[in-house]
Amino acid sequence: MNLVEASEGEVKIRVPEFDDSQGPKEKGDGVFYNPSMEKSRDIFISFLKSWAQKDLSLLDGMAASGIRGIRALKETPISKVTMNDISEEAVNLIRKNVEKNSVQANITHESVEKHIIKNRYDYDYIDIDPFGTPVPYYPLAARCVSHQGVVGVSATDTAVLSGTYPKTCLRKYSSKPANNWCRHENGLRILIAYCAREAARHDRWIRPLLSYFEGHHFRTYLQIGEGKRKADDCLKKLKHIRFDERGWRTKNLKVEDCSGPFWTGQLFSEKVLQNMEKIGKLDEDLLEQWKSECSFDPLFYDTNKISSTLKVAPPPIDEIMEILEEKGFKTSRTHFSPTGLKTDAPYRELEELFIELSE
Ligand SMILES: C[S@@+](CC[C@H](N)C(=O)[O-])C[C@H]1O[C@@H](n2cnc3c(N)ncnc32)[C@H](O)[C@@H]1O
Repeated sequence: MNLVEASEGEVKIRVPEFDDSQGPKEKGDGVFYNPSMEKSRDIFISFLKSWAQKDLSLLDGMAASGIRGIRALKETPISKVTMNDISEEAVNLIRKNVEKNSVQANITHESVEKHIIKNRYDYDYIDIDPFGTPVPYYPLAARCVSHQGVVGVSATDTAVLSGTYPKTCLRKYSSKPANNWCRHENGLRILIAYCAREAARHDRWIRPLLSYFEGHHFRTYLQIGEGKRKADDCLKKLKHIRFDERGWRTKNLKVEDCSGPFWTGQLFSEKVLQNMEKIGKLDEDLLEQWKSECSFDPLFYDTNKISSTLKVAPPPIDEIMEILEEKGFKTSRTHFSPTGLKTDAPYRELEELFIELSE
C-alpha cells in the first residue's frame, strides 16, 4: 500500500494513494479513504460541536484510516474516542495516524457488531459508516448507544433507497420506494423509517437531529433513547403515501396503491442547525438551505414536472416563490433537488400560477 499525506480540517494523515478523478478505491483494495467525503466529515465535526458541549464517549465503529475519530479528537471537546475496524491493515494505519497527530485514542480490531455488544451503553455517540447499506450494523447501535445518545448512520445504497431496485429495498428496509421527483427525500425517509422501527423493537425512540442527501449518500444523526410511549409515537410517524400526477396524499388510501412506509416526522432539529450556524466553518448556503426547509411538511413539488404536465415553459422558481409568498403561502427550495419547491400552497394554486405566468 503506497501512502501519501492528506490534510482535512485540522489534521494531516497518511492514506493510501488516491486519484481524485477516479473516486474512492474499491473495498478490499487497501484501506478506504475517499477525499470527496471531506464535506460529509466537515458536517460531522460541525454536528458534534453543536451537539456535544461536554466530554462524551465516541465510537468510530468503521474507522478505515481513522480520519473521523482523529478529527473529532482534534476539532471538538470530545476526548474519549475509540476507533475500530475489522481490517488489520486499517487498524495498523489508524495507529500510525493517531501517533502522527499526537492524540490519545482507544484502537480496536474486531467487527463493529461484536464491539458494540461488548460495550453496551458505554458510548454516547456511535458512527456507522459502511460500504453500502447500514442494515447489518444499525440495529445493534440503536440498541446499545447510551440513553439519549446519538447514532450517525450513512447509507450509500442510494439507488436501492431511491427506487431503482424496489425488491431489494423491500427486503432490506421493509418499505416500497417511489422512484419519482421526490426520490431522494423518499429514500432518506425510508432509511429513517427503518431506523425508527428497529429502535422501537427495543422500546427505544429516535429523534432525527440532522438528516440529508449529499451526492452519493444519505446520512442521518439520530438521537435515541429509552421509552415505550415515545417509541409508539415514532411509529405513528411512519406513513404510506400515494403519489400521483398532481402530488401526493397520506389519507384515505389503499395500501396496495401506495409507496412506503416513510418517516413523516422532522429531518432536522432547528436548535442543532442554529448551533451549527453559530459555530460557523460550514458551507453557509447549505446551512441556510437546511434551515429554510426544516419546518416544512415532507415532500415537495417539482417545477419542471408541473411545467411539462401543463405543457408550459417553467417559470423561474424565485418568481413563483415571491408570488406565492405575497399570497400568504410559505415557500422554500429544498436541498433534495434544484428544481424542487416546498410550499403549503395546494397544487391547483401552482397550476393556475404556472398558466398565468406562461401567458
Ligand atoms: C466506508 S469505510 C469507512 C470510512 C471512514 N469512516 C471514513 O470516513 O473515511 C468502511 C470501513 O468499514 C470497515 N468494515 C467493514 N465491515 C466491518 C465490520 N463488520 N466491522 C467493523 N468494520 C468493518 C471496512 O474495513 C472499512 O474500513
